[in-house]
Amino acid sequence: MADAEISATLTLSGKTIELPVRSGTIGPDVVDIGKLYAQTGSFTYDPGFTSTASCESKITYIDGDEGVLLYRGYPIEQLAEHGDFLETCYLLYYGELPTPSQRKEFDKNITYHTMVHEQMTRFFQGFRRDAHPMAVMVEVVGAMSAFYHDSTDINDPRQREIASHRMIAKLPTIAAMAYKYHIGQPFVYPQNSLSYAANFLRMCFAVPCEEYVVNPILARAMDRIFILHADHEQNASTSTVRLAGSSGANPFACIAAGIACLWGPAHGGANEAALQMLKEIGDPSKVNDFITKVKDKTSHIRLMGFGHRVYKNYDPRAKIMQKTAHEVLAELGIKDDPLLEVAHELEKAALSDPYFIERKLYPNVDFYSGIILRALGFPTSMFTVLFALARTVGWISQWKEMIEDPSQKIGRPRQLYTGSPRRDYLPLSKRGK
Ligand code: ACO
Repeated sequence: MADAEISATLTLSGKTIELPVRSGTIGPDVVDIGKLYAQTGSFTYDPGFTSTASCESKITYIDGDEGVLLYRGYPIEQLAEHGDFLETCYLLYYGELPTPSQRKEFDKNITYHTMVHEQMTRFFQGFRRDAHPMAVMVEVVGAMSAFYHDSTDINDPRQREIASHRMIAKLPTIAAMAYKYHIGQPFVYPQNSLSYAANFLRMCFAVPCEEYVVNPILARAMDRIFILHADHEQNASTSTVRLAGSSGANPFACIAAGIACLWGPAHGGANEAALQMLKEIGDPSKVNDFITKVKDKTSHIRLMGFGHRVYKNYDPRAKIMQKTAHEVLAELGIKDDPLLEVAHELEKAALSDPYFIERKLYPNVDFYSGIILRALGFPTSMFTVLFALARTVGWISQWKEMIEDPSQKIGRPRQLYTGSPRRDYLPLSKRGK
């Protein structure tokens, strides 16, 4: 970021101050209000952070009006088309695409850390079988800090790197174990000769009594879904990871916090909710009735998988998802998936309806992802788990960037207090009936 050459003038209670304006490489300028309180005694008010940049970052860029998503400057479409997930992990974490030798070493580092401490397998037995796999993920990932003490010193760059590699490597194993436990099947250990996505599919769907051959087209689709979910700037879960990490908490605890935040239906839980919605609509002929209900504010029904805080245009990830959905269904020989038909009809109806046009509501990444994941064989309860698995590299890259930022300090928002002013305690006998 260049030093401020322009400034904004603010007049408050008769006092005028200059606020520095900073420019990024691309994207909107930001007004630096860091000294506002010291200079005026006032805070800014921005619930939901709709106008607030919480940090400086070099990782991911989104242009919501144009529907652009860049990882370290590379368009998501190019990475999804030509790259793979582990290369994307390297890019997000280290800032550049790897050279062949860097790639080889990185693959080895990740591949050789896929197993989890054997004692961790016992955690799972403590959960009810019907526990939501996201509940299990929050606990087990948080518990990694109890198993990998030797990589929890956040001030040691090598420990930070080892913890990061461990999480990228072990999250698929933990996610697959959460799934296997949920359905009452034995855990399948990782197979390091397979690719990241193929290994994950095998850990989820293989059983000890049968040979399991990974379908390369489905593994490629899985890999692409991971790429599309790998990072997304300062969204709610990433901000949660940064905020948790700003206190100096260890990286495993921070990622567990991110997973907890991702679980919400307005964020990562939307893919589960979107598929549920498609199932409830059930038939393309019922789409118009559903759209009418969505537009009726008293119904409190939202079109799940539509709308985004940042994208006011087609989410570029949704386009790739739509293409991948067709590829997966064709590979599996599913000719007329009724849910895909409902989704197409819903998208068509929404995109030509003034309610959605005026509010700039377009399909987001979750609109089609559920159809693919369901076709791959995942139950809806696993959808957000897969998102968490893929987003781990984004969280960990953002966490690393924050820790390495010399201006980093504990995150501590302020508030507009609207509660009672000071008052004196009344004994119970004097508080009326
Ligand atoms: N269906 C119907 N109306 C919607 C939708 C929707 N999906 N999304 C927004 N709107 C309407 C709101 O009711 C509001 O209308 P109003 O101006 O008449 O009051 C207007 O559009 C603006 O909506 P906000 O809630 O202010 O927009 P915000 O940026 O806060 O919300 C969000 C973004 C949470 C993603 C929202 O669009 C939503 O709930 N979508 C459905 C859930 C979803 O798909 N989430 C996944 C996001 S992507 C991700 O996390 C990976």
